[in-house]
Amino acid sequence: MKKIATAILLLAFFFAFSQQKTIDQKVDALLKQMTLEEKIGQLNQYNDDWKATGPVTVDNNKSDQIRNGQVGSLLNCLGTERTRSWQKIAMESRLKIPLLFGQDVIHGYKTTFPIPLAEAASWDLEAIKKGARIAATEASASGIHWTFAPMVDIGRDPRWGRVMEGAGEDPYLGSKIAYARVKGFQGEKLGGIDAVMACAKHFAAYGAAVGGRDYNSVDMSERMLWEVYLPPFKAALDAGAATFMNAFNDLNGIPATGNKYLQRDILKEKWGFEGFVVSDWNSIGEMQVHGYAKDRKEAAFLAITAGSDMDMESRCYKNNLEELLKEKKIDIQLVDDAVKRILHKKFELGLFEDPYRFCNAERETAALNNPEHVKAAREIGSKSIVLLKNNNHLLPLSKDLKTIAFIGPLVKEHKQNKGFWSIDVPGVDDDQLVVSQWEGLQNKVGKNTKLLYAKGCEIEGENRDGFAEAIEAAKQADVVIMSIGERADMSGEAKSRSDIHIPGVQEELVKAIQATGKPVVVLINAGRPLVFNYTADNVQAILYTWWLGTEAGNSIGDVLFGDVNPSAKTPMTFPREIGQIPIYYSYFNTGRPANKGTNLNYASSYIDLSGSPKFPFGYGLSYTTFEYSDLKLSKNKMNNTGKIEVTVNITNTGKYAGEEIVQMYLRDKVGSVVRPVKELKGFEKIKLNVGETKTVTFIIDNQLISFYNSKLEFGSEPGDFDLMIGSSSADIRLKDGFELVK
Ligand code: BGC
Repeated sequence: MKKIATAILLLAFFFAFSQQKTIDQKVDALLKQMTLEEKIGQLNQYNDDWKATGPVTVDNNKSDQIRNGQVGSLLNCLGTERTRSWQKIAMESRLKIPLLFGQDVIHGYKTTFPIPLAEAASWDLEAIKKGARIAATEASASGIHWTFAPMVDIGRDPRWGRVMEGAGEDPYLGSKIAYARVKGFQGEKLGGIDAVMACAKHFAAYGAAVGGRDYNSVDMSERMLWEVYLPPFKAALDAGAATFMNAFNDLNGIPATGNKYLQRDILKEKWGFEGFVVSDWNSIGEMQVHGYAKDRKEAAFLAITAGSDMDMESRCYKNNLEELLKEKKIDIQLVDDAVKRILHKKFELGLFEDPYRFCNAERETAALNNPEHVKAAREIGSKSIVLLKNNNHLLPLSKDLKTIAFIGPLVKEHKQNKGFWSIDVPGVDDDQLVVSQWEGLQNKVGKNTKLLYAKGCEIEGENRDGFAEAIEAAKQADVVIMSIGERADMSGEAKSRSDIHIPGVQEELVKAIQATGKPVVVLINAGRPLVFNYTADNVQAILYTWWLGTEAGNSIGDVLFGDVNPSAKTPMTFPREIGQIPIYYSYFNTGRPANKGTNLNYASSYIDLSGSPKFPFGYGLSYTTFEYSDLKLSKNKMNNTGKIEVTVNITNTGKYAGEEIVQMYLRDKVGSVVRPVKELKGFEKIKLNVGETKTVTFIIDNQLISFYNSKLEFGSEPGDFDLMIGSSSADIRLKDGFELVK
């Protein structure tokens, strides 16, 4: 039996090897036939007409250029019909090299899932993977080969609008999610009919833009780069990410797009990345604006030298590479290497065998109308809602309440629920597709419940004319639900905000409704952690609903009425005030920590505000309660080849079945460089029935406690470690410790 298994394994190995070899050989053979113009064409990517996701450049005759082999890829081109028509033109080119169609399929295609930050709040890796899987199934059926996702940038500044696209502040959680998303998009194996290539972006450190201002500079230590910002990229690579996108920002003075250290030294050499790197939108051309290249020709030189393979929308390669070669400023091998990487992916996707593989209209219709996808979006939606507050168990609500008033500017919205970076599939009406929160509520309650609605106010602006009507509705109700927050286009690319309070007079409206004395539940819709101190301190219950996608209303209804017990936890720290930003849980202790109960004079603190967050990382309530007990370590000493097994019992002590995300944090007490006060190093999401107990196990090994020292060597250092098991980063229930011995 064993022998047969070995033989099969060997055969599979041989097969995989010979396949690999065949693609390499095919790429080489094709490359030999290509003219220089055709080679450069493969590196050239243009925007199509669906929408421009960057500053529009003058259009040129795309059809002719495609026919002449001068274009390798298009973005923002949707649907089997449109992709087929472009591909047809590519098939008229001399070498019939198929086009690649790329698209920002960030959180769903037609079926929109929660924004990535919301999904991250679920800490549910299987659900997150499933979301990406379904997005890929729909997108690939619509002619798309490649998504510009996942965005794996660490986000520690909620002013930065793009935190909504990522997985939050933590490298450990961020890495797990990056891995899950890549696996979801790419499926079992690249080349599957329902898979798209993933693209880990934005390489690198884009999330650390100074002041949270989009596209801004990043200045950071190497150690911070390796320890916090690079791990999710490495995880995406380990999951097999086919492509990477570089970034708009400069890193320590060198634009990421022209950064050889990042793209060649780290990504392609040290990490052995075999896929290709696409620039961000015109980021090659923008190196001139940065003041790093004197003109676009030098920008092309810097980008290709640094390892940026495909040029998105700047035309710098198209217009300059030939001259740079003639002048012997660059070697043809640089161009060949980039072309080979791109062709390889086109072969892997099976496009040379059938360039229309992803252009089947029947499959498209079936994939875009699959009720299973809708069901999954609803489930993931409810898993992403964070219960921030629930005084006196106001939630879940009874379905038999006599009168509910639903108040706020977002109650009847459809499209807003899709969030930024969602796809408007041509011909699809969002009012039909998206379940509004109002409709979600209607779907839930029985016919004996009366629902009252009042808008109250707009999202922005000073107009309070609607307050009176809203107060009137509230007075008639047993319970008031309010839906407030940001508009979907207030977080996303180029949507940085200096003020992240709830906009307009919405919190004033909350105050006015609260004054009626009725029990108030507030739903907060946003793409980032917002500041909402009045609401947080006064109303009875708060659900942070982010932007949940096409099934938003149903997902919210499921949680409000207890059909789903909320289980999400914040993937980013919520500040009390904007002045605390950047704020994250894994800070260094400093020489003068501001600990509770100690003299705050001469402490690392503010004189006008507590340093602690409003809601900490990893925080979220449930309708039930969990007790943590029996923390056990298999031993309290280990050497660097050893392992410690940590077990802890979790019991559901409340009245509802529910899920808990059990978190393990470690602190390396003394290091050759200072270590954070705590670092997430393990988590598990478990489901417990009422009264049930489960044991959660974590394994600590050398890898887990290693870090980058001042020489950037990755390793562990002997000494004492604190071990903390908690329900959030600030709610540590059990503690122990261990020693790493030589
Ligand atoms: C964004 C990328 C995106 C690209 C294409 C850029 O502006 O930074 O994340 O993939 O546009 O839409």
